[in-house]
Order: sequence, then C-alpha cells, then structure tokens
Amino acid sequence: MKKMLLLWYNSAIALSIFERGPFVKHKVILDCDPGHDDAIAILFAARHPEIDLLAITTVAGNQTVEKTARNALKVCSLANIRSVPIAKGMHRPLVRPARHAANIHGESGLDGPTLPEPDIELAPQHGVDLLIELLLKSDGDITLVATGPLTNVAMAMRREPAIIPKIKAISLMGGAANLGNVTPAAEFNIWVDPEAAAIVLACGRPITMSPLEVTHQARATEEVLTRLRAAQRPIATFVCELLAFYGKTYSANFGFSAPPVHDPCAVAAVIDPTLVLTRTIRVEIETTGEWTAGRTVCDVYGKLGKEPNVHVGYALEVERFWDMLIATLVSY
Ligand code: BDR
Ligand code: CA
Repeated sequence: MKKMLLLWYNSAIALSIFERGPFVKHKVILDCDPGHDDAIAILFAARHPEIDLLAITTVAGNQTVEKTARNALKVCSLANIRSVPIAKGMHRPLVRPARHAANIHGESGLDGPTLPEPDIELAPQHGVDLLIELLLKSDGDITLVATGPLTNVAMAMRREPAIIPKIKAISLMGGAANLGNVTPAAEFNIWVDPEAAAIVLACGRPITMSPLEVTHQARATEEVLTRLRAAQRPIATFVCELLAFYGKTYSANFGFSAPPVHDPCAVAAVIDPTLVLTRTIRVEIETTGEWTAGRTVCDVYGKLGKEPNVHVGYALEVERFWDMLIATLVSY
C-alpha cells in the first residue's frame, strides 16, 4: 500500500513538473568531474525538459581527468544519453598540482555500483576547445553549469577571451561563506584550483554560486531514497546505489547521517532560479593564504567597497528541489 502511494505521489509530482510548459529551454554546457553528485547532475540536466544539454566537458577534480571522462561516458551509456558530446578537458589545475577526493568518491571517482563498459566515445576535441567552439558559434544564449574545479572554464576564457561576452550566465557549485569541507576555510572545487576560480569570478558575466550553505541542505535522506526506490526504474535504482556508497563516505568523513547532493543544485538554479535563494555581493578568491587558500571571501557587509560580482546562494527550497530532481530521475 505504501509503495502504491509512493508511486502515485512520484507520478503526480512528475506530471506537475513535466507539464508545466510552455517554457523556454535553457541551453547548457555542463563542465563536471564525476563524481557521484556530478553523475546525478548529468542525469538531471540531460533529462529535464527545460534544459537543452549541448555538451559535457570533464575536468580533473574528484579524480583524474581520465577517470572523470570515463565516468561521464559510463553514466551516459547507461542512461542512453547519446546525442550529447562528451569531451575530456584539463588534466590538472592552472598552477597547482592535481588533488583528488578518493576519500569521498573512491579510486574510480564513481565507486559503488558496478557499471558496464561505456559504449559511446569521447568527442575528438579537447574539452576547452569544445567549450570555445560552442560558445563562439552561439547567439550568447548558453549557460555554463560548472560542478567541478573551474580549470576548463578559466582556461577557455584565457585562451579565447571572445567567448566571455557570449556566456549568458554561469551557475556553479562551489565555495562556502562559512566553513569549508576540504580545509576549515575552503570548499573542494575552489580549493583545487583557486587561480581558475579567481579568473572566472572576475569575468563580468552573471554568476550564481551554490555554496555549501545551499548544497548541505540537499541531503539524500531515507525519505528521498525511499521515493527513488519505489519508482522501480533502472536509473533511479542506479542513483540509489551511487548514494549508498557516497552516503558511507560522507558518514565516515563528516559524520553526516545523509549525504549532501551538491552538484544538482547548480542545475536546479538554472531551471528555476527561485529554488536557490541568493544575495548579490562581492566574492573574492583567496589564492595566497597559508591556511585559507581557496576560500571564497564573501563580502556580505560590502566592506571591500567593490561592485558585487556573484549571486551567492544562502538557502535552498528543499522540498521543491527534491520534487524536481526525483521526478526527473524516475522519468528515465
Ligand atoms: C564538491 O566537491 C566534489 O567532491 C563534489 O562533486 C562537489 O562538486 C563539493 O565540495
Ligand atoms: Ca563535482
């Protein structure tokens, strides 16, 4: 009976989300480092009816770029996402050595579920070249969603500055106004490549940042898992397997009872900006601090006297976020 009710509940929400048109599709390029939560962001962006996913580029972050590219291929093969080019990008940060997060995502970057070998191939271009190519030929209507270190995006901006005015907006997962997660001061994506983050935040285009204050509200609780399981759909089941591994590492590393599903928040902020509550302020990136490198210095009280450059998220509409994400995942 409970199962039936859950099935009904999931499909009622799916109907309300998938039939809320007419709507304009957001053209999106997803730059990511899968990664468990990146994998869920891929599934979300590739399937949501209000997103037109133009490409996936991968970067070194949670694991080496070889592994993150392979993981993107595996996830897309499994979910039958075949029309989206996937390109491998930068293998290390702009100036610092590569650093990964095997403690959270395992040696493969996507430990947990056993995935078949990918049956799709990488695009021939370098990820940075693909970003440049797509942006240059666009009408200025592409939003970049970045859910890993910002190396590819910064590199593309340095290599071809003409792309900058072509970027409609950037929605990124990264940073923290308060505590970090990889050091007391810094969040992982920004800490891996602070120089890249500094370039991106100075680009002058509209940027929405979903920091830990937002993404730590997106917890994959038992209730969320139950809703996904009840759908009895292959991709929803795969996501549960991902979350089982990821939940264990989050519990071991942070003592969290339910893991935060960070990266889909940056996708959600594009589909419906009212899901992430923001304040528009100046954010600077600490690139020299001995203890604070990678910190997103959020000037909430305008002490720096500089123009605001980022819409910084401070809260998430948790229920609506999960309704949208679950409805999308169970639609596979
Ligand atoms: C970020 O770091 C990675 O481990 C996750 O994929 C997410 O993008 C959270 O700090
Ligand atoms: Ca990520």
